[in-house]
Amino acid sequence: MTIGVPREVHPGERRVAATPDSVKELLKLGYQVVVETGAGLEASFSDDDYRAAGAAIVDAASLWASVDVVVKVRPPQVHPSLGVEEAALLKKHATLIGFVWPAQQMAMLERLAQRGATVLAMDCVPRISRAQKLDALSSMANMAGYRAVIEAAHAFGRPFAGQITAAGKIPPARVLVIGAGVAGLAAIGAARSLGAVVRAFDTRPVVRQQIESLGAEFLTVEIEEDGSGSGGYAKEMSPAFIEAEMRLFAEQARQVDIIITTALIPGKPAPKLLEAGTVGLMRAGSVVVDLAAEQGGNCVLTVPGESVRRDGVTIIGYTDLPSRMAAQASQLYGTNIRHLLSELTPGKDGQLVVNMDDEMIRGATVLHQGAVTWPPPPLTVAVPQQQAPAEVPVPAEAAPPRRRTGTTLIALALAAAALLGLGAVAPPAFMAHFTVFVLAIFVGYQVVWNVTAALHTPLMSVTNAISGIIVVGALVQLGKPSLLTAVIAGCAVLVATINIAGGFLVTQRMLKMFQRD
Ligand code: NAI
Repeated sequence: MTIGVPREVHPGERRVAATPDSVKELLKLGYQVVVETGAGLEASFSDDDYRAAGAAIVDAASLWASVDVVVKVRPPQVHPSLGVEEAALLKKHATLIGFVWPAQQMAMLERLAQRGATVLAMDCVPRISRAQKLDALSSMANMAGYRAVIEAAHAFGRPFAGQITAAGKIPPARVLVIGAGVAGLAAIGAARSLGAVVRAFDTRPVVRQQIESLGAEFLTVEIEEDGSGSGGYAKEMSPAFIEAEMRLFAEQARQVDIIITTALIPGKPAPKLLEAGTVGLMRAGSVVVDLAAEQGGNCVLTVPGESVRRDGVTIIGYTDLPSRMAAQASQLYGTNIRHLLSELTPGKDGQLVVNMDDEMIRGATVLHQGAVTWPPPPLTVAVPQQQAPAEVPVPAEAAPPRRRTGTTLIALALAAAALLGLGAVAPPAFMAHFTVFVLAIFVGYQVVWNVTAALHTPLMSVTNAISGIIVVGALVQLGKPSLLTAVIAGCAVLVATINIAGGFLVTQRMLKMFQRD
């Protein structure tokens, strides 16, 4: 089969659905690949790059007329130079893969259905663990979150990082991120790395840890309500919560310089969270970036696709943020498409198989051989942990005391009886050492058991200190006349030395993981 990569015709769209790198991978799956001339130019990939990767370069008309599978970024629309809708250009019974947004494109789907087409929507790939590598919504939202910060920095008249110079003090920029999904978390990471002081708010308490691990402050409102909906997405909040949240934002608006809003509930218009009055409270020169602009915007003053100025505040409502980083966005999107095609080509023989029994493929397929298959049946598999509405971590002081089981009590009673029995017969010096030994085991066990698994490696390197004490003790014993003592001391020196060397090695590796090139 032949895969075709047309040039995107949506005004201002710079991305392309396959890059020279992803073309090489598609060829390995047994397909032939044709690319429309100039398809990758805006994303910095020339026709020659595609030729070198093994693709054939053709014009738009012959591409649409000949290929069995078309991979695209945007949904089909009227082709400006051919004067026909792209859906009508698709070969009969061919397959189309790209962002489709079926809820808004039903009429176009009907037209594709008449051509017996099969359509896989990248925006309908279910958010399950297996499908993470083809989750184009996440890879694009990640780009958008980063770019939102860059656009904000461009419009803001100050560096993000605070500085003290001979010419005066520059305060750090204060950034508020509303909504910590994929885009929001990427925005927090980017703003922090530029040196800004970042705070964030989300209706799902489960994201608190993620926000804090990126070095931002998690803001809360006085009302307790969990916004976690099904599939790890958010649900609509009560009017009382939205009101409390808006009060928080009005308070924050006086303090922050930049607000980045990404709040969204799937299938619903974006919640209106920033009123004109709230924006009016921001200092002149402040910036609002509204990522939800395409879904109506989180700010009432947002104009989708544009940057406007109101009372000295810049409100950015660009809807093409990933396209503004076309080369990287295309690389990620091309990889998502390549992974989907790899799932659709089990034989690696260039033959596309749409297995409707596979939940991942089923979810993405919105049209199958001319029959509309959207919306898909509800998923029966679990969503990935990161997206799943996990339990809110209970603060240490509020944690209920662990219940001691009967078995533990019996074990403790037996140990105490054994110790008493031993005390009755053993010499006092032995008992003193033995008690210290038992207590050391108990304390050591409790320390290790109560440390989070993620911190076991640093804990292990800390045991170097203990190993050091063992080496000193064993060295003192090495000179003793008893052969047995010398052998045991020798063994202790050997084992403790291995522990010390291993600890340093592991610490070194861990530090390397956090080093920047
Ligand atoms: P997502 O669904 O993963 O995240 C949305 C977040 O908003 C969730 O964490 C949710 O809990 C939170 N939220 C919902 N209601 C809220 C409320 N009332 N208050 C505070 N937080 C609330 O979505 P994702 O993938 O992170 O995308 C975020 C937004 O960015 C979406 O609107 C998406 O369409 C948009 N986007 C915009 C692009 C552009 O070029 N402008 C490109 C890509 C994505």
